[in-house]
Amino acid sequence: MAKRDKLYEGKAKTIFATDNAHQLIQYFKDDATAYNAQKHEVIMGKGVLNNAISYHIMSALGAAGIKHHLIKKIDHREQLIRKCDIIPVEVVVRNIAAGSMVARLAGKHIPIDLGTCLKTPMVEYYLKEDALKDPLITAEHITGFDLASEDELKQMRLTSLAINRILGDLFNGIGITLVDFKLEFGRPSQRQEDDPLLILADEISPDNCRLWDKATGDIKDKDRFRKSMGGLVEAYQDIANRFGITIAAT
Ligand code: TMP
Repeated sequence: MAKRDKLYEGKAKTIFATDNAHQLIQYFKDDATAYNAQKHEVIMGKGVLNNAISYHIMSALGAAGIKHHLIKKIDHREQLIRKCDIIPVEVVVRNIAAGSMVARLAGKHIPIDLGTCLKTPMVEYYLKEDALKDPLITAEHITGFDLASEDELKQMRLTSLAINRILGDLFNGIGITLVDFKLEFGRPSQRQEDDPLLILADEISPDNCRLWDKATGDIKDKDRFRKSMGGLVEAYQDIANRFGITIAAT
């Protein structure tokens, strides 16, 4: 497999073509952004940690029967992935109220606060459109504007809830509470026999989860950067250590 042209440069990752039309390389950068990229820093070592943690988590999900885009980890910064047509919808699953849910909804009618346990996990959808600041959208928007079919939407929702159960147990096992997380799905460019309509894409790392230490309440995710708390690499390293992941040299 040979690396070819850069196809897309995102905020935290870059995608390259390969000599296989159905496979891409996903490169993890050290860049951290928040608030629609208004806040931006380069945090040495973040990309290496996210590559390793996301590889570990995707592999665990795969072993539990969730179909994903990951083929293999190439080195400390790169993964070989299946090419997908990404659905332009971010699926967020929440177990505990935090972040934009509290900012948007907490009040007289919905008396939640940071840290309120939700009665049941809640799924939200956001349009992937930087220029509109990724607005919250409804299931009707997704099907009505042809972002995904009814069947694809149903699969995204059910798979996201299944992933929540698997990830919740995985993090519970290392003394971490899974507060919320974001997923992306895509249509594989080349379908395999046992493929569902959509497969899990992107990454699952402390960049797109909220992770709180069960014993101390310590924040172990990108909120450390959003809130300018410092100690982001140390927190991500702690997650890797607890999973028993060995990190290659940067
Ligand atoms: P939020 O509370 O800011 O809406 O974020 C919910 C979860 O989704 C949180 O774990 C962070 C993650 N997330 C991303 O990964 N990318 C994003 O662009 C946003 C807005 C949230």
